[in-house]
Amino acid sequence: MLNRLMQEHNHLRRVLNLLEQYCIDLCRDAETEPSIIMSIVVYTQEHPEKVHHPLEDAAFSRLLHYDNESRPMIQALMRDHTELEKITRSLRDTLETFVSLKTYNKKQLIMELMTFLSRQRQHLLTEEARVYPLLRQHLSDEDWREIGDSVQEADDPVFGSREKAEYQLLFERLEQ
Ligand SMILES: [Fe+2]
Ligand SMILES: [Fe+2]
Repeated sequence: MLNRLMQEHNHLRRVLNLLEQYCIDLCRDAETEPSIIMSIVVYTQEHPEKVHHPLEDAAFSRLLHYDNESRPMIQALMRDHTELEKITRSLRDTLETFVSLKTYNKKQLIMELMTFLSRQRQHLLTEEARVYPLLRQHLSDEDWREIGDSVQEADDPVFGSREKAEYQLLFERLEQ
């Protein structure tokens, strides 16, 4: 189950890398693909938010049974999940205007992309550096079984079975 969390981080990092490339293109006035930027943001809401965050919340709560000292850090990361979701929603609103009206405030979009990228990366890294080692140390197979049973299983629409046609272009860009 911890392997699954790490695998999900690997996937998220891949889409963040691609998004960073699009952000840099915007900064350089190069051509960009707003629909792919949108796909990345929608994917973040559809999978990492709906599946990865709840699994982590369950694992982090379980960790507190064993390691009370990590409570402030765990609570901050769980608050971070809510904040990341807010940042993502706001970015999506901005992008929807961009895609539908073909007009956008470039400075604002770049700022929002920068916030999104840096907050996501900071969050992933803090978890990998400070919390996942504690999960590995403290949680038993039995804990992980119970945690797994408490959250919903869902296929990753981009790195899983790839049945969703709306991500077709994103698959292609990730593979280039
Ligand atoms: Fe997280
Ligand atoms: Fe995570």
